[in-house]
Amino acid sequence: MPDMEGNKDAKQYQSDVAQKTEGFFLKGSNSLEWGMKDRLARIFNPVSGHTVMLAFDHGYIMGPTSGLERMDLTIVPLIEYADCIMCTRGALRTIVPPTAGKPVSLRYSAGTTVLTELNDECVMDIEEAIRINASLLAVMVAVGDRYEAITIRNLTRTVDLGSRFGIPTLGVTAIGKDMTRDARYLSMASRVCAENGAHVVKTYYCDGFEKVAATCPVPIVLAGGKKLPELDALEMAYKAIDQGAAGVDMGRNIFQAGDPIAMIQAVRAVVHDMETPDKAYDLYNTLKNQK
Ligand code: R5P
Repeated sequence: MPDMEGNKDAKQYQSDVAQKTEGFFLKGSNSLEWGMKDRLARIFNPVSGHTVMLAFDHGYIMGPTSGLERMDLTIVPLIEYADCIMCTRGALRTIVPPTAGKPVSLRYSAGTTVLTELNDECVMDIEEAIRINASLLAVMVAVGDRYEAITIRNLTRTVDLGSRFGIPTLGVTAIGKDMTRDARYLSMASRVCAENGAHVVKTYYCDGFEKVAATCPVPIVLAGGKKLPELDALEMAYKAIDQGAAGVDMGRNIFQAGDPIAMIQAVRAVVHDMETPDKAYDLYNTLKNQK
């Protein structure tokens, strides 16, 4: 028990200095609970407001895809350059060092693979997400797909479970087989995720992306998609950030690049410093040629 006698009187009231009431830097996130904000502020850099998430969760639907055959050799060296890692619990436990110190966007939904039909998914126990200290729960949402209702129920359930423990949810807009990746579809899918409680939305770049970003009331991160030439991928990232994305959640365009370590640094230059694609590509080549 602390001493009750001889303590200094409290005098430093500074009643002429108003206590600051600061807003939170992320779009649509000001009313969230402290733990949610803390987790989001570990994912998104509070200075730039942006994030570079490294996605390597592809194995859960695709198996050992190119660049992910030996994640211990190809992914682990990239982790230090990422603001956040997006992966399955299997990858996390088997190859990610617990000392990496990066927030984890946990692949929280799982189900069918590319060999059958995608998107017939369930979600895992929230205790598992807490056990591995997840900072974000990533759930596939397939608007317009045959499994639309299942995936929206999964999102709703995840938001409910995560909210109990202060863990935000990432709505990942999946593209149904008959859907076109245009602004009309992606803005609807993104908005459906946000309206159902997603705290962050991941979607693809398209013509008219600024409309997708403007009509989504929470931060959007850009999914990279299939491998492009490095300069094209940097241009896509630049345009997305310029048009309102709060970062990228990129996989193949980083780990399948000619030099993945150089590429993730070039992507960082675009996302955090708004470096032009040409300058970021110069950086990519400089770093690549240094080896
Ligand atoms: C897709 O379901 C996975 O969540 C991937 O993480 C996502 O597509 C991002 O990876 P990529 O940039 O390779 O498209």
